[in-house]
Amino acid sequence: MSWDQVWIDVNVATMSPSVSAPYGAITDAAIAVKEGKIVWVGPRSELPEFDVLSTPVYRGKGGWITPGLIDAHTHLVFAGSRANEFELRLQGASYEEIARSGGGIISTVKACREASEAELFELGRKRLNALAKEGVTTIEIKSGYGLDTETELKLLRVARELGKHHHVDVKTTFLGAHAIPPEYKDDVDGYVDLVINEMLPAVMAEGLADAADVFCENIAFSVEQTERVLSAAKKAGLDIKLHAEQLSNLGGSAMAAKLGAKSVDHIEYLDEDGIIAMSKSGTCATLLPGAFYFLRETQMPPIELLRKHKVPIVIASDYNPGSSPLCSSLLMLNMACTLFRLTPEEALAGMTRNAAKALGIEDKVGVLEAGMQADFCLWDITTPAELAYTYGAGACLEVVKAGHLVHQ
Ligand code: NIG
Ligand code: FE
Repeated sequence: MSWDQVWIDVNVATMSPSVSAPYGAITDAAIAVKEGKIVWVGPRSELPEFDVLSTPVYRGKGGWITPGLIDAHTHLVFAGSRANEFELRLQGASYEEIARSGGGIISTVKACREASEAELFELGRKRLNALAKEGVTTIEIKSGYGLDTETELKLLRVARELGKHHHVDVKTTFLGAHAIPPEYKDDVDGYVDLVINEMLPAVMAEGLADAADVFCENIAFSVEQTERVLSAAKKAGLDIKLHAEQLSNLGGSAMAAKLGAKSVDHIEYLDEDGIIAMSKSGTCATLLPGAFYFLRETQMPPIELLRKHKVPIVIASDYNPGSSPLCSSLLMLNMACTLFRLTPEEALAGMTRNAAKALGIEDKVGVLEAGMQADFCLWDITTPAELAYTYGAGACLEVVKAGHLVHQ
């Protein structure tokens, strides 16, 4: 056999459903990589013979290899800081009150309109580096802090550029309907028209988005307005997803599921009817423990019902300046367990296999099987549960992206 590299002296959490052990684990395993793809993974004792003289062999010192982490919901490209709102909230103001009084998302919009592409790129690059260091190999980045055509395009261009200049793969999402811009505060339908008739065609013309998203909430867009945007985006050929049921139960999730949404995100207030609709359409449930924690939410997402109806659970950082200023995907694994009581295995599936499904890339990444892209991490841990159990000890030793060693 001729391969580009072989990994031995490792245990592998394949996260593949075809391996029956928890985490799809294979202890004392080997992985062989050729031309950016995994060509063989299994017990080392069964590794076919290969040319040891011409093949680089990496030793994992008994650590664990997992699929590269996938952060399927972020707002990583933004300018400005909302530390002042953090202080206001500590004095008793609520997230909704701040949003209604012109702060919140709108304050980040002002900063993004003023920032240049180069400034936004530099801010994004630093954050992406931080995530990459902890094992993230694919990320989704949303627009939504422009709320005018020019700035929405600018944010998406920056996200695309980050993907071109960084080894982390970037999937981009157009979130023009994130909040109501001050210019349209008395004409929300007019703004929805602008999103559909001007922004979306411009985004499509430049090929800037892979998906579209809307914030469906009583401080943002109604279910009807959301449906108009998502239907137009679907017609234009984009995947669709939704911020829904974060502060109240409006029924956006069921509507989005019927349109074939890849995921519905936040969903603390989601009811069983919505979950049944998601289960029928194969829509993922993306839980965002960072926002739950930072907003000190007390309404738990309906974890038991998601399990009962076998809705794939995704865990993401929702990294953004307002509700989740926590630039760490690994921290979310811990929070998914401590706050939402997920098992460490469910949490890891939420940042690998299920996150890939939410982004529509499950045929390429998310599990370690022959034929998949060679995106994986080597961790200095003794059991995969340690990824969620501990935080901040620098357990990520190596990252391999499409067969290239990118971080040591
Ligand atoms: O995912 N829910 C809406 N959007 C973001 C928050 C954005 C902000 O506050 O800047 C979220 O939590
Ligand atoms: Fe979000």
